[in-house]
Order: sequence, then C-alpha cells, then structure tokens
Amino acid sequence: MFSLNKEKIQESKKIGSGKFSTVLPYQKEATDERWVVKVVEAKNSNQFKLQLENVVASSNQSHPSIVPVRGYAFEEQGSEGWKTYVKMPRMKSNLKELKDDYTNKKNTISKDQMIRYVYSIASALEYLEKKRVPHQNIKPSNILMDPNGKVYLSDFGAPKFASEEERTKVPKELGGAELYMAPELFTADKPLKRSALFKADVWSFGAVFAELGSSKPKPITPSLSNDDKAKLIKEIIADLRKNYGQTVPDLISSALSIDPAQRKSFAEITQALEAKYSSELVKLGLRDKV
Ligand SMILES: Nc1ncnc2c1ncn2[C@@H]1O[C@H](COP(=O)(O)OP(=O)(O)O)[C@@H](O)[C@H]1O
Ligand SMILES: [Mg+2]
Repeated sequence: MFSLNKEKIQESKKIGSGKFSTVLPYQKEATDERWVVKVVEAKNSNQFKLQLENVVASSNQSHPSIVPVRGYAFEEQGSEGWKTYVKMPRMKSNLKELKDDYTNKKNTISKDQMIRYVYSIASALEYLEKKRVPHQNIKPSNILMDPNGKVYLSDFGAPKFASEEERTKVPKELGGAELYMAPELFTADKPLKRSALFKADVWSFGAVFAELGSSKPKPITPSLSNDDKAKLIKEIIADLRKNYGQTVPDLISSALSIDPAQRKSFAEITQALEAKYSSELVKLGLRDKV
C-alpha cells in the first residue's frame, strides 16, 4: 500500500487507457516525471476482488524485466463500485507502439533487438513460472519499454470474459488480448488448471513475438480453425527465418504448437537462447560473463 496523494494525479495528461483502466502521470513538480498511476475501475465486488489479487500478485514480484509496482491504494465509490490505484515507474513506450512505428517506416526489428526482447520476456516468465504465478495477459501493450530500450512485463491477470456464453462464442473485445490467447482457452469446457495456464502463457509469448518479427503481420485470430491457424503459423515462421536465423523462429514455432504438450517451457526457451547466443546476451547486458 502507499499513501495516495490525489493532487499528484495529472488528470488532464492521460497517457493511455485500456478497457477498464486509465494511466495518468503521478507528479507534483513538472520536472518529476518518474511515476504514473494506473486507475482501474471495478463495477462489482467480484471484479474488484480479482483486480486486487492481480495487483497484489504483481507487487510481489522482483525481476529486471518485470515492471516494479511501487504501491497500490483503493477507494470505494459508493454504488459506483471501486477504484484501484497502482503506482509504477513511467515508461516510454510499449511493443505495440514500437511495432506500429516500424510498420509505418516499412522497417523490421533487428536480430539483436529481437534476441533482447525475446530473452528478457522469456526470463521474466520463467521467473513467474518458478513462483507459480501465471501471467495470463501477455500482449504487446503489456510489454513496456524504458528510454534505454529495456523491456518489462506488466499487467498480470486474465482479461475476464463478460459471460460464459461470450467465451464459447469467441469474444471480439478483450482489450486486444484475445488475439494472443491460446486456442485451448476458447475450447476448454471448464477453467484450465494452473499448470495449464503456463502453457497458455507460452502460446501468448509466441504470438506476441511472431507478430513483432513478421514483415507482414497477420493476427492469429481465435475464430480460425486449428488447421488454418497451423498453416498461418508455418507462413509466419518461414518469414521470421529470413531475418532471425534458426533458433528464435524455432522457439516461436514451438510456442505456437496447437497442442499445449508440444510447447517448450519458459525454462527451455531461455536455456536454448543462452546456449546459442551467450556472447550476444553478455553484450546486451542481459547475462553476466560466464
Ligand atoms: N508504467 C507505465 N508508463 C507509461 N505508460 C504506461 C504504463 N503502464 C501502461 N502504460 C500505457 O498506457 C496504455 C494503457 O494501458 P492499460 O490501461 O494497461 O491498457 P492496455 O494494456 O489494454 O493498452 C498502454 O499504451 C500502456 O502501454
Ligand atoms: Mg496494459
């Protein structure tokens, strides 16, 4: 918890917003641009409970590629529901904006950048898996970037389906997360077990980096049949091989196996990268010299 000073919230300088959230600068002095608060609204106590669980889970993590949550506060809004305030360092951009930038300039992300992002995020997810915390909301706008180009995972917690019916009909609007969600999340007839959620995270990780590296990104839309998904994924991997060698595309291909049992784990993904790119990772400052 932290003691929220509402005078520091710069309501008029909104940085961005999501389906239930707004991100605002949190600063008293114009020159102090270190912090933001993310304000999340809950309409009912169930939503509030889930949001709070997610915020507590994220504030308990400490890893160089996970956004550090510096405190949270909440407020009851009478019959309107609840507001949660999450304080974090202000970041500069995210992988969605980065990709849009590159696409506009008809440019592709370099191999070194790709290695840096894939390795940073895989090791953050390996750390979470060791702590038994599934992320469940991996998408490009939840991978933030600082002014030095370092990337950080943020926003734990599954985007919630409005209803069971929505889930089986393949929702169109989950704040964009649905484009990165594993196929089994749409077809399972009951909620997945915790161990299966890590495999679902592996798929999302694969989907994010498949898109980031593609020269003509096509979303792996949930409504495609499994055969059409597999065909599209093959095309994407062939495209990635043009720029990123063998290892990274192979890992992305494994992550995007329709059968969850065929997907490599995050530990296997980081190990494969360490074996292949040991000197690059040292140069990028992501590993100590071995
Ligand atoms: N700590 C932060 N610093 C700067 N921008 C942020 C921060 N956290 C989130 N954002 C940006 O604010 C926007 C809204 O984020 P969010 O409410 O999580 O919705 P979503 O992730 O669905 O876009 C996104 O563009 C996100 O990158
Ligand atoms: Mg987000």
